[in-house]
Amino acid sequence: MSDFTDIYRPTEDHEAFRAAVREVCDNKVAPHAAEVDELAEFPRASYDALRKADFHAPHIPEAYGGVGADALATVIVIEEVARACASSSLIPAVNKLGSMPVLLSGSDELKQAVLPPIAAGEAMFSYCLSEPDAGSDAASMKTRAVRDGDGWVLNGVKRWITNAGESEYYTVFAVTDPDARSKGISAFVVRKSDEGVDFGAPEKKLGIKGSPTREVYLENVRLGDDRLIGDPGTGFATAMRTLDHTRVTIAAQALGIAQGALDYALGYVKERKQFGKAIADFQGLQFMIADMGMKLEAARQLTYAAAAKSERGDGDLTYFGATAKCFASDVAMEITTDAVQLLGGYGYTRDYPVERMMRDAKITQIYEGTNQVQRIVMARQLLAGLPQ
Ligand code: CAA
Repeated sequence: MSDFTDIYRPTEDHEAFRAAVREVCDNKVAPHAAEVDELAEFPRASYDALRKADFHAPHIPEAYGGVGADALATVIVIEEVARACASSSLIPAVNKLGSMPVLLSGSDELKQAVLPPIAAGEAMFSYCLSEPDAGSDAASMKTRAVRDGDGWVLNGVKRWITNAGESEYYTVFAVTDPDARSKGISAFVVRKSDEGVDFGAPEKKLGIKGSPTREVYLENVRLGDDRLIGDPGTGFATAMRTLDHTRVTIAAQALGIAQGALDYALGYVKERKQFGKAIADFQGLQFMIADMGMKLEAARQLTYAAAAKSERGDGDLTYFGATAKCFASDVAMEITTDAVQLLGGYGYTRDYPVERMMRDAKITQIYEGTNQVQRIVMARQLLAGLPQ
């Protein structure tokens, strides 16, 4: 039997890395979080700070100019950035989501062409799977890519695209064989600068307001074969394999948001006095705090275990990615709601950060597959006899 600490224990390097990320986030990201939310503006100052420290796309391998952070280190970056500002955490998270299809299935030429600008912080990478009528049922997408000479012509509308307009690169999934359903979907790299690419107005959202969510319009976008990711017809499997890895990063985002809310609430209950003593002295509130800490720790252990599986490419990652994302996001919603409760009336106002954290937490139960989809994925895996 192997040493059980091999499973996922963060190394000293991981903890040093966390301290470095936290310092940047405390000083350069957190100070902008309230304004980014209030104005619904892309967190440019945070992006600059993350780029300067090489935390904007830590997962890109060294071979393509990146720092080559492993999956756990990438989770730590996203967790720490989300603790300060959930909108900003979508910079490293969505750079991973957008570029993962290329890393998993792209040719080396394609990797060499598109990954170095992401690693250098010159460009961001978004992921275009969903459409107005194809959300949870991703394989029912209508965006078409039609063979034309030695290239392709793309037409369609992608919806709910995180960082759309800000990103230069987009992984776009499109139907190349309408009779083959999931086997007739292919993946392409589209650039913002490609002729025929346009964007809808930013969605007016409940949370993560600093991260633009827009439609992406593709009108007769002509691409060469060099933009195809993997073989035609393999796009849906690439999309699903990508999500297996990146659902772990959404779990990390949820952890960070929850940790930020718990930290704030812990400080508040020690300061706030009612009935002649700090409200932290009341056992009713202590029980709430204990539950918050307990749930957060369970979510963290599950997320780090899933990150280790992502790093190793274990066969049960599909199951663990779904469990981590589903559990951590449900926990984040509970903890942030409880943090608002602990602050009482003050927690319900924009003068305190916990209501923002509660609004930001909600999306983690929805994107990269709703938690109902995660339960479908988990049940299918269990019924198929996985994980072993
Ligand atoms: N790895 C590899 N292949 C996979 C796979 C995986 N994890 N999951 C499915 N596949 C393959 C299957 O093996 C199958 O191939 P075979 O027929 O050869 O077996 C094929 O793909 C089709 O699979 P299913 O029959 O399971 O597909 P389905 O139509 O029933 O859908 C689903 C399954 C899990 C519901 C899937 O549609 C899904 O995950 N939906 C949610 C989509 C989603 O997460 N969207 C989020 C978009 S990203 C985002 O949120 C935006 C953002 O910017 C943050």
